[in-house]
Amino acid sequence: MNNESAKIETRDLNLFYGTTQALKSVSLSVQEREVTALIGPSGCGKSTWLRCLNRMNEMIPGVSINGGVLLDGVDIYGKSVDAVEVRKRIGMIFQKSNPFPQSIFENIAYGMRLQGINKHADLHVIVERSLRRAALWDEVKDVLKKSALALSGGQQQRLCIARALAVEPSVLLMDEPASALDPLSTSKIEDLICELKESCTIVIVTHNMQQAARVSDKTAFFFEGELIEFGATDILFTAPTKRKTEDYITGRFG
Ligand SMILES: Nc1ncnc2c1ncn2[C@@H]1O[C@H](COP(=O)(O)OP(=O)(O)O)[C@@H](O)[C@H]1O
Ligand SMILES: [Mg+2]
Repeated sequence: MNNESAKIETRDLNLFYGTTQALKSVSLSVQEREVTALIGPSGCGKSTWLRCLNRMNEMIPGVSINGGVLLDGVDIYGKSVDAVEVRKRIGMIFQKSNPFPQSIFENIAYGMRLQGINKHADLHVIVERSLRRAALWDEVKDVLKKSALALSGGQQQRLCIARALAVEPSVLLMDEPASALDPLSTSKIEDLICELKESCTIVIVTHNMQQAARVSDKTAFFFEGELIEFGATDILFTAPTKRKTEDYITGRFG
């Protein structure tokens, strides 16, 4: 599934944790400004594949990777590529929201300060813009100095999304971003995903097939480290071509 116009693509990607192979020749391309969902039973390699896209696996001892990971056609594991630069262009949201134990404002300003932006007025513009994009501004605009840890779980997750957006990434990776949240907070995150895809390419891991069906344009089904099937979400869920996919989406295992 090599594709010149892909935003992100892996080609024959293999990953080993020590001697255990967790990804087996995965070739998959993600199109710009689409939402791509990764589904499959626990342990099938979804998070592992996602972490390859912003070079987070290489921080795990004993990991070896071969094959290609291309961002805008450039191999991000190439010698001249800086991992920090890659992670600036590709934001990541985790299952468990992880705000810093600081104010709401500082959580978002932090990345800007690292880039040398320190004037309060400049920071404020970015903080407001990011919180608006993450659909959190109206709820927190009067309490920006309050600790981020005082927010609800759903608000904390949207704060983490705002923090990721502040550095203007072109891709957002989300690893089960709503699986720890109540239904109302989950639907806010899903609405947000649909809005953000106007400006970002989004890859979301979810164990919730209804969620994949609601938010994604394309769905990839993984099983035991292999990409079994990939295609338009409505087709994959209604007329899968592989027996394994059908068994999974109809709840025969998983
Ligand atoms: N840091 C790690 N060290 C060793 N094995 C790992 C590590 N992370 C994941 N694995 C293994 O790799 C496989 C894929 O895991 P993972 O990508 O987390 O699956 P998923 O996200 O689909 O549940 C599993 O067998 C898991 O046990
Ligand atoms: Mg996972």
